Amino acid sequence: MTSSGIFISFEGIDGAGKSTHIDGLAQAFRAQGRVVTLTREPGGTPLAEKLRALVLNDPMDAMTEALLVFAARRDHLQQVIEPALGRGDVVLCDRFTDATFAYQGGGRGFDLKTLSFLELLVQTVKALDGDFIRQPELTVWFDLAPEIAAERLVGARIPDKFEAQPVTFFARVRAGYQARFQAQPQRFARIAADQSRDAVWLDVLAAVKQKGWLA
Ligand code: TYD
Repeated sequence: MTSSGIFISFEGIDGAGKSTHIDGLAQAFRAQGRVVTLTREPGGTPLAEKLRALVLNDPMDAMTEALLVFAARRDHLQQVIEPALGRGDVVLCDRFTDATFAYQGGGRGFDLKTLSFLELLVQTVKALDGDFIRQPELTVWFDLAPEIAAERLVGARIPDKFEAQPVTFFARVRAGYQARFQAQPQRFARIAADQSRDAVWLDVLAAVKQKGWLA
């Protein structure tokens, strides 16, 4: 039997605790015989990882940042995501375009209409039965108050450019996610990330099971 591909993204402010749950889901899908492509943005290809290092470490204006993350996304879609979905893989992507709307749009205040234009330009897939914009079928949003996320990040590691931002920045990023959630609620599963790790995991699993993708 051939399965069709599944595209899931994971979002949230820095410190919301996505990583262990992404790994857990990869294991759960593999245990059911699915091939999983585990990837991240910005990044996921050699070129996009180089762009990631620039975006996370070098000071630049918000438009430059947006153009670089979309350039990385274009390469990632063409080299990794589209081929994986074509093979029928489960693609688990640590962040995708919602992060651009949240960080560059919400956090840095960059124009949302321009981001929507770039989204259309970069993510349009040409298909015989009509072009469409590639989006995750499910976006798991780990929602956490920025004050709690900041406590979790203290001493965790040397902060990158974004992790070093003040709580007010992350309040705007969170509002950016909220706006995306409200615009497309059917695509999102909002997870209360202030619960215990086990409770968060059960919510993540429930969101995926509700789609009928895991038994
Ligand atoms: P993150 O996903 O948190 O990875 P790690 O856990 O390894 O730090 O780091 C990626 C950072 O990049 C995060 O701070 C959000 C930021 N980012 C943007 O600003 N715009 C984007 O479009 C994406 C995908 C990420």
